[in-house]
Order: sequence, then C-alpha cells, then structure tokens
Amino acid sequence: MAKVIENIRIDSTYYLLKTDLKMDVLPGQFFMLRAWGTYPTLSRPISIFDASENLEFLYEVVGEGTEIFSKLKQGDNIKVEGPYGNSFNTEDISEISLVGGGVGIAPFYYVSKVLKEKNKNIKIDLYLGERENQEIEKSLLDLDVNLKIKKGGFITDILEFDKKLIYTCGPDIMMKNVTKMAIENNCEVYVSLDKRMGCGVGACLSCTCKTTSGNKRSCKEGPIFKGEDIIEYK
Ligand SMILES: Cc1cc2nc3c(=O)[nH]c(=O)nc-3n(C[C@H](O)[C@H](O)[C@H](O)COP(=O)(O)OP(=O)(O)OC[C@H]3O[C@@H](n4cnc5c(N)ncnc54)[C@H](O)[C@@H]3O)c2cc1C
Ligand code: FES
Repeated sequence: MAKVIENIRIDSTYYLLKTDLKMDVLPGQFFMLRAWGTYPTLSRPISIFDASENLEFLYEVVGEGTEIFSKLKQGDNIKVEGPYGNSFNTEDISEISLVGGGVGIAPFYYVSKVLKEKNKNIKIDLYLGERENQEIEKSLLDLDVNLKIKKGGFITDILEFDKKLIYTCGPDIMMKNVTKMAIENNCEVYVSLDKRMGCGVGACLSCTCKTTSGNKRSCKEGPIFKGEDIIEYK
C-alpha cells in the first residue's frame, strides 16, 4: 500500500498523482492501481509517468475508477501493484520521435528522461496531440526535449519522419496511422497498446491482441510491440 503525497489537477480532466513509493522501473512499464474496496472489481492499469524519485502517475478521468483517483487527498492510501509489462529500449539511440495522443503521452515523460541519461547529445522530438481545450503540456514543461503540440485535428498532420525511430502511444487509430506512415517513410516504429485489462499479470487473457506471431497478452508480452507486428488492435 502506498500513500498519496499529492494529487494535482493539471486541466479539466487530467491529474498528476505522486505517491510515497520509490522503486526501480523500466520506461514504458505500468502499474495496476486501486483506491477502493470491492467495487469496481478490477484495478486500473496506469503507466509510469515518472520514477526518478517517487512513483508518479498522470491520468485522465474517464469513468468510475479514475473518478475515485481524482478525489484522493494527501495521506490517503492507494494500492500500487507492479511494475508490469515490457519496456521501451533506451540504449544506443541518437535521435527519436515520441508520439503521444492524449493520455498516451504519459509513458514518454520518464522515457525521455531515461533516454537523456543514457544517450549523450540525443535529439528527442516529443509530439503531443490533444483536444483544443486540453493543457496536458503543463505536465511536460521541465523536460529538455523538442516539444511539438497539436491541439485538435490529427497529430499525423505535423509528424515528421526525419528521425528513423518512433515510439507511439495513444488511441488505436492514431497508432495505426503513425505505424503506416512510419513504415512508408522507412522508420522503425513501436507502439504501446492501450488494451482493457483484467488482471495485469497474464492470467485472464482479457488483453489479448492479434500479432503476426500469434495472439499475445498485452500485459505480459506487451504492452509494447513492433508496430508492423500488430494485426488487430481491439
Ligand atoms: C498499459 C496501459 C497503460 C495505461 N496508462 C494510462 C495512464 O498512464 N493514464 C491514464 O489515464 N490511463 C491509462 N490507461 C488507460 C486506463 O487504464 C483507463 O482509462 C482506465 O482503466 C479507465 O478506468 P475508469 O474506471 O475510470 O473507466 P471505466 O469506467 O472502466 O471506463 C470509462 C470509459 O473508458 C473506456 N476505457 C476504459 N479503459 C480503457 C482503455 N484501456 N482503453 C480505452 N478505453 C478505455 C471504457 O470503454 C468506457 O467508455 C492505460 C491503459 C493500459 C492498458
Ligand atoms: S490483463 Fe489479464 S492476461 Fe492481460
């Protein structure tokens, strides 16, 4: 069980939750969070936003579980299980584009920090696609990256393919289009899938996705896959 240190509102639907936990995690992994008793039945998968000091999570209020998270106050208890899943490679990279749609930006804060630590002089373009009324960028301003924001419309309208490695996370249709365009432009692309999850540990099969090498559990073999290997997102 962790304690909430702060739970800050970023904009109308986004919050940043800081816990008192310190842990070694790999960039791109996620935790199963729970701040209630028996209902809702399932814990909720949330990516690691930052783990440089305490574990922090960026979340959007979309339903019952995240609504409960948004009410948490300093000192409240929260169950934080993990880290789970695979991670993004952060070794030997000289330039990269990170493409986040909405809350899909969450893993790229810590990914950017680790990439900077491990690769001297790395060039990082961090793309954020959000709705007109959103201000998710408020949570990213201290990052030393080239931040490119698209408010409304499609992130692919501003996406350049000058960097030959792309990591993306966000709505399925966005990841599908980013993958297609990346391949057309001879880029290598990895996607972090946002599948609904039951257990988070590979037991229930609710997060299965179809890939070129058979069905894979997004929580165990993923959530990160090579873009071209995904046959069906949902
Ligand atoms: C590996 C992984 C990492 C994630 N990281 C984050 C994160 O860092 N921050 C964050 O805010 N969210 C993240 N999510 C999504 C998050 O888990 C869901 O938004 C959350 O479970 C919704 O719970 P809820 O009880 O508030 O909504 P519910 O009441 O369960 O659902 C509300 C609505 O959201 C839809 N929904 C629920 N879960 C998903 C989902 N996974 N994908 C698409 N639609 C969904 C439902 O269909 C419904 O319409 C992640 C998901 C995965 C699989
Ligand atoms: S969430 Fe249960 S197997 Fe992946």
